[in-house]
Amino acid sequence: MGNEWQDKRKNEHFYKKAKKEGYRSRAAYKLKQLDGKYNLLKTGDIVVDLGSAPGGWIQVAREKVDEKGFVLGVDLDNIEKFNYENVINLQIDITEPETGEIIRKKLPNSPSVILSDASPDISGNWEVDHARSIELSRAALNLAEKLLERRGNILIKVFQGEFFPELLKDVGSLFDFCKSSKPRASRKESAEIYIIGKGYKTD
Ligand SMILES: C[S@@+](CC[C@H](N)C(=O)[O-])C[C@H]1O[C@@H](n2cnc3c(N)ncnc32)[C@H](O)[C@@H]1O
Repeated sequence: MGNEWQDKRKNEHFYKKAKKEGYRSRAAYKLKQLDGKYNLLKTGDIVVDLGSAPGGWIQVAREKVDEKGFVLGVDLDNIEKFNYENVINLQIDITEPETGEIIRKKLPNSPSVILSDASPDISGNWEVDHARSIELSRAALNLAEKLLERRGNILIKVFQGEFFPELLKDVGSLFDFCKSSKPRASRKESAEIYIIGKGYKTD
């Protein structure tokens, strides 16, 4: 009950804050908090944001990369166009094999950061939702292996469950630094957690 009540308050707080500050989603604050802690984004970065509708993370990323950088948002849903020359959106499925090539063709250079806040539609069955979330996280990691520049960063949302430790280990083997973290803006009752990988190692 305690957690549920606190979560409700938290939801309302970040919902109102997002409205007031002009962000398209409450999720914007999750990225702000994780970036504040782990320094994932910087001016001039080329960012690919997977599962990005309605676009709160795109807004936060655009603020950080500024005019010199570039942000590409990808989602199954339509993302309302942004009024920036260096922000574009693609309506495609991140799990499809051709997605990597489609993304690559739209970018000015290899991405320095890959973000994924992709979530499946929640069925309410914990195991099913976990498995679907793992599939999306794996798709994000595959895209990173295809596209990310050397020393680049990744941030992946995943619902916790039995396959989480293996995913964390795999990210750990590809990056110099790897951690999992739950930002304050994430509801305590939610299964979601974020994996941070910094310093992509390529051979
Ligand atoms: C929590 S929302 C993202 C919120 C976003 N970060 C923001 O700040 O506005 C998760 C998104 O993942 C998208 N998604 C789920 N499966 C996907 C897939 N296979 N390919 C692309 N997007 C997907 C959903 O359509 C949904 O818009």
